[in-house]
Amino acid sequence: MTTMIDDGNLDISNHDSFAGGVPHKTFERLRREDPVHWTPEHDGGRGFWSLTRHADILAANGDNQTFSSAQGIRIEDQTREEYLARRTFQETDPPEHRATRKLLNPAFSKGAVAGYEAMITDLAVNIVDEAIKLDSFDGVAEIAKQLPMLMLGRILGFPREDLDWLVSKGDALIGNTDPDFAQVLVDKVDTSAYRFMPFRSPAGVELYDYAEAILNGEKKIDENGLLQRIIDQNQNHEVMDERGFKNFFCLLVAAGNDTTRYSIAMALYLLAKDPSLLQQLREGDLWDSAADEFIRYASPTMHFRRTATCDVELGGKQIKAGDKVVLWFVSGNRDEEVFDDPFDVKLDRQAGRHVAFGQGGVHVCLGMWLARMELRVLLKVLADRVERFELLEEPSWTRSNFICGVKKLPLRAHLRSA
Ligand code: HEM
Repeated sequence: MTTMIDDGNLDISNHDSFAGGVPHKTFERLRREDPVHWTPEHDGGRGFWSLTRHADILAANGDNQTFSSAQGIRIEDQTREEYLARRTFQETDPPEHRATRKLLNPAFSKGAVAGYEAMITDLAVNIVDEAIKLDSFDGVAEIAKQLPMLMLGRILGFPREDLDWLVSKGDALIGNTDPDFAQVLVDKVDTSAYRFMPFRSPAGVELYDYAEAILNGEKKIDENGLLQRIIDQNQNHEVMDERGFKNFFCLLVAAGNDTTRYSIAMALYLLAKDPSLLQQLREGDLWDSAADEFIRYASPTMHFRRTATCDVELGGKQIKAGDKVVLWFVSGNRDEEVFDDPFDVKLDRQAGRHVAFGQGGVHVCLGMWLARMELRVLLKVLADRVERFELLEEPSWTRSNFICGVKKLPLRAHLRSA
C-alpha cells in the first residue's frame, strides 16, 4: 500500500493520500487558502467542490433544498438506476426522509439510549477486564471493535454467533478501498458487477441474503429487538420497500460499528500518547465533554457529499446546479476559527460544537447518543482500572478518504494498584 507524505498539497480525491493518516496539512492549507476548493478526481470522475471550513459546512448542511442528498452521498457518481437500487433514507431529502427517520428516532433518542447505560457498562467492564489480563493486546480488536459490535447486536437483536461475520461484512462495505478489509477494491478493479449493491461491494450481496433470511423467517432474530420492531411496523412496506429495507440493514450494520469503533480506537491512541489524560478523567467530571472531544478528534466519517440543485455562490465560488459538493467534516473539526488549538486534546472543550455527526443537517447521526454513551462509559471503566497505556507500535490507518480509522493499535496496560 502506498503511503504519501503530507506536504500540504496531497490529492484528497485519492485514497492513498489517507493511508498514512488524515492529510491534515493539506486540509489546513485549503481552509486557509481555498476553503471552497474545486477538486479534480484523479480517477477520471467529474470533480467536486470541497468545503473545508466549519462555517461553510454548517451552512451547506443546513440547506438541503440547495444541497441535496438525493443524488448520492458519496463522491462516486451513480447513474439514476444505481442510485435508486442502492439508496437508503440517508440518500433522500425531506419530506421523503421524514417517514423513516420518524420510525427510527424513538429507539435512538437520548432518553432511550439512557436506558442502555447499565447494559453498556456490563459489556464494557467485561471487555476491558478481558483485554487488560493480556500482557499486550491490539486495542482495536480487543476493545474498540467489541463494544459497538456487542451493543448493536443486543439492540438490534442479532444472534451472538453471527456478530463477527456481520461486522466483517460491514467493514468490507465501508472499507471498500482498503485491502485489509475488502478483496475487491472499488478504485482498483472493475466493480460494475456490483454497481447495484451498497458501496459497490460483493459484501452487499451477502448482507442482502442475510436480510432476506430475516424477512422470510429463516434467520431468527430477537423478537423484542429493534430490528424486529422495525419489520413489524413496516409490515406493509409503508415506509421501506423490501429493497429499501435491505439497504437500510446494510447501513445499520456498517454505520453502527466502524464509526464508534474508530472513535474508541482514537481515544485509546490519545490516552496512550498522553497518560495525563487518564489522570484528568479521574480528577474532573469531564465524561461528556471528553467523549465528544475524542469523537471530534477522530472524525471517523470524514465527509459526506451533497449535490447542488441550483446555481449558487459559496465562499466566492460559483457552484453550478448538478455539481457535487463534499462536506469535509474532518476538516471542519480542526478549523482554527472555531476550535482553539484544534490539534490539542482538551477534555473540557465545549461539547457538541464539532460536526463529526453531521450536526446542523436533517441527516444528523441517528446513533450519536448511543456512540457518545459508549465512549463515556468506556472511558469511565478505563480510567478506573488503567494507570497508563504503553503504545507498543504506531497505529496503522485505513486506506480511505471516507472513513478514518485506526486499524491496529498494539498496547500494554499498566494497571492501577488496588
Ligand atoms: C462516533 C460514531 C459515529 C459517527 C462519527 C457517525 C457519523 C455520522 C454522520 C456524519 C452522519 C450524517 C450523514 C449525512 O450527513 O449524510 C451520520 C448519519 C447516520 N448515522 Fe451515524 N455516526 C456514528 C455512529 C452511529 C451509530 C452507532 C449508528 C447506528 C446505531 C449510526 C447510524 C447512522 C444513520 C442510520 C445515519 C443516517 C441518518 C439520516 O440520514 O437521517 N451512526 N452518522
